[in-house]
Amino acid sequence: MDKILVVYYSRTGTTKKVAEAIRDELDCDTEEIISIKNRSGAMGYLFCGKEAALKRVAEIKPVVKNPADYDLVIIGTPVWAWNISSPMRAYLMRNISKFKKIAAFCTMGGSGDKKAFAEIENICGIKLVASFTVLTKDAGSCDKTIKEFSQKIRE
Ligand SMILES: Cc1cc2nc3c(=O)[nH]c(=O)nc-3n(C[C@H](O)[C@H](O)[C@H](O)COP(=O)(O)O)c2cc1C
Repeated sequence: MDKILVVYYSRTGTTKKVAEAIRDELDCDTEEIISIKNRSGAMGYLFCGKEAALKRVAEIKPVVKNPADYDLVIIGTPVWAWNISSPMRAYLMRNISKFKKIAAFCTMGGSGDKKAFAEIENICGIKLVASFTVLTKDAGSCDKTIKEFSQKIRE
């Protein structure tokens, strides 16, 4: 069976919840991307929105796991201003050429996932083998979506 890593960034816990559900379903490793900047509160929200809209690269802490050691890396990010989050952009850009196969998921309030998935493919230079989106309000009740995604990953 393929060695799988779920890498995610989560500002307020939604994406983390989905990442942990995937980990439980696939019994795989996880890596959480940590932003160096404090992004909490209203000011943090505005800062994140601006960074994402301008496609800036955030400062992040060094990661522990090497994506090159995995057959498949599953990338999880919240949608920010119809883009991927700036900490996830930083992770992807730091690790270009280390990914063998990628899949992805987004969490979002309502729109922007397609653009976010396209950006992940653009940065990594390879196509996603699978992807799915969870609305923020459904993050606690997306077991069926995760099971279907995991099934596709295992095929
Ligand atoms: C700065 C910022 C911009 C956002 N922009 C969008 C957006 O363009 N489209 C959308 O559907 N949701 C948007 N959201 C909502 C988040 O994508 C959503 O709440 C997500 O589930 C949060 O994930 P997290 O709890 O893991 O941080 C935005 C949230 C933030 C903080």
